[in-house]
Amino acid sequence: MAWGGWGGGGGMFGGRATAPGLPFGGIPSELMEGATQILKTEPEHAPSNITFTQRPNAKERQRLTLPKLLRVYPGWVVSGSFLAILISLVMQVGPLLTAYAIDHGMGGTSRHFHSQRSLTVIFVCAVLYLGSALVSVWLQKMQVDVTGKLSSRVMHDLRIRVFTHFQRLSLDFFTDEKSGVLMSRMTSDIENLQQFIQDGISSFAIQGLTMIVITVVLFSLNVTLAAWTIFLVVPILFALSIWFHSASERGYLLVRDRIANVLADLSESLYGIRVVTSNNRQHRNIRNHRHVVGAYRDANLYTGRVNSVYGPATIMVGILAQALLLLIGGHMVLNGQLTLGYLVAFFLYLNRFFSPIQLLTQQYTALQQGRSSIIRLRELVETQPSVDEVEDALVLPTIEGRITFEHVSFGYLPGKLVLHDIDLEIAPGESVAFVGPTGAGKSTMAKLANRFYDPTEGRVLLDGIDIRSVTLRSLRSQLGVVPQEAFLFAGSIRTNLSFGRTGITDEDIEEAIDVVGLRELVERLPQGLDTEVHERGQTLAAGERQLLALARAFLARPRVLILDEATSSLDLRSETVIEHALDRLLEGRSAILIAHRLTTAQRADRIVVIDHGGIVEMGTPSELLRAGGAYASMYEAWLASGGRDATQPE
Ligand SMILES: Nc1ncnc2c1ncn2[C@@H]1O[C@H](COP(=O)(O)OP(=O)(O)O)[C@@H](O)[C@H]1O
Ligand SMILES: [Mg+2]
Repeated sequence: MAWGGWGGGGGMFGGRATAPGLPFGGIPSELMEGATQILKTEPEHAPSNITFTQRPNAKERQRLTLPKLLRVYPGWVVSGSFLAILISLVMQVGPLLTAYAIDHGMGGTSRHFHSQRSLTVIFVCAVLYLGSALVSVWLQKMQVDVTGKLSSRVMHDLRIRVFTHFQRLSLDFFTDEKSGVLMSRMTSDIENLQQFIQDGISSFAIQGLTMIVITVVLFSLNVTLAAWTIFLVVPILFALSIWFHSASERGYLLVRDRIANVLADLSESLYGIRVVTSNNRQHRNIRNHRHVVGAYRDANLYTGRVNSVYGPATIMVGILAQALLLLIGGHMVLNGQLTLGYLVAFFLYLNRFFSPIQLLTQQYTALQQGRSSIIRLRELVETQPSVDEVEDALVLPTIEGRITFEHVSFGYLPGKLVLHDIDLEIAPGESVAFVGPTGAGKSTMAKLANRFYDPTEGRVLLDGIDIRSVTLRSLRSQLGVVPQEAFLFAGSIRTNLSFGRTGITDEDIEEAIDVVGLRELVERLPQGLDTEVHERGQTLAAGERQLLALARAFLARPRVLILDEATSSLDLRSETVIEHALDRLLEGRSAILIAHRLTTAQRADRIVVIDHGGIVEMGTPSELLRAGGAYASMYEAWLASGGRDATQPE
């Protein structure tokens, strides 16, 4: 009956009532017609089946080459090639028709000058000429269509493949590579390749085929004349092209390197604009930029010069060939060895033989760009993550939370250790604060526990299991990391908190907001939890972002929590809120707390003092204060600088 309720139109939707994306809420009868229209044009969406595995599957492990990328779409490749062949054949009909019209319509065969004049022949040839031109235009349209589709699909696949690979790579890759460079893989490299597939391949194919077709036609028209012209011209062209190849290759490499410098300089300057302005570094920045832009200009001038020699030189060779043709061909016509029509056809073909060479020159840069783009993209997707899963990685069972550093040494750069032989065991449920001077290695310890890096020597264990032997997914699902720089994604606060996790209810989110003390903020915001925060969360204060990051970690309910200066941007009042929040957050969890505020460190079960990549002191807060060692003097300095004394009641 519910279906009949709106004007009997329900039957139309009967078949789709359970279709995904259409939760049935009843469609008012006046909107029925529109809805039916929309449904007709709406494609059937396959259910999304995106999965991510750390280890690439067989398809993703394939070597990245253009043929392999294209092979996925055999239909389009075949029809595109077929069209290219047809185009290069049909385009060469014109001169033959002209020759026929001259010889048989205008009496070009000098011996039968009068018997061979016929307007009909001329007319038919002209119509056929027009027809062949129309056919070739139509074929070209089809061909552009096919290659357009092909290149869009291939680029789509490639973008996803590269992006997926980014998700697999380890932290060191992203810290070592300039982000501008990584961006350019996804922008200019992929676009170069798209351009190449769309225009480059087909014009190379068509122009190459055209030269072959013309050579064949010329030889079949008159072997002697064809031999003279082709064999005199081709060696000169060949020598010129070899020179051009190496010169333009050099120019191209220069241009490529220097534009990369321009982009890197640009992105760094824009990204750091606040620092630049506040330090009055504008003039130095401009000077730098003039430098890289100037180098780029010089490289462009060089390639310009190379092109300006090669282009006109080939034109010269073309003219030389025509002069030769006039001399030899004219002589042959006089001797009756060649008809006038054929001579004209030779001239027309010779022009057409040279114009592809001109075009190839222009396309050559596109070819080089396409080729080097695919090489760089291949290097990128073949980069092995430095932190990877072993072949038969286990799924880490739910852990109690014992964290063990066993003789751990580590260096970011080979031969330069920043952690030396660390031995540390954190019991399930225990919270341990790492304190020590900047650069001591605290964050590095945290990164090893989370397997952002693997130790150079020694092992990190969770519940006695080497974390290198388990899947990254199962490992990280039990570890919560809150870094100093809280990162928010474009979207609402709500989506930022649940962050794609399933099974998080509104009540959970409200609870998390209360726990971290963000209630006031959420109530102040115009749309509450649904307020959009901008990319990188720049619209919120740093402290607010940190609190959101803590709430996110609270919602993830990890077994082990790692806070790396996660409360450093909070003012004193939020600090007291956060200390209560921390108690809730740490309940029953093992935790590593890195805090420069010793008030926070004091709340930990145990304090580990780290300096110069080693543990110098370790014990409960009161033990360490009594012992009067490194921690005790740090604490004294902290109090002297106005820190709140956590050993006294508030
Ligand atoms: N990605 C990196 N590459 C090279 N060296 C690094 C990198 N990150 C940190 N370091 C160096 O490692 C040492 C320890 O750093 P870190 O663990 O971040 O210190 P902190 O105790 O202040 O957290 C420092 O000397 C730092 O310069
Ligand atoms: Mg640090």
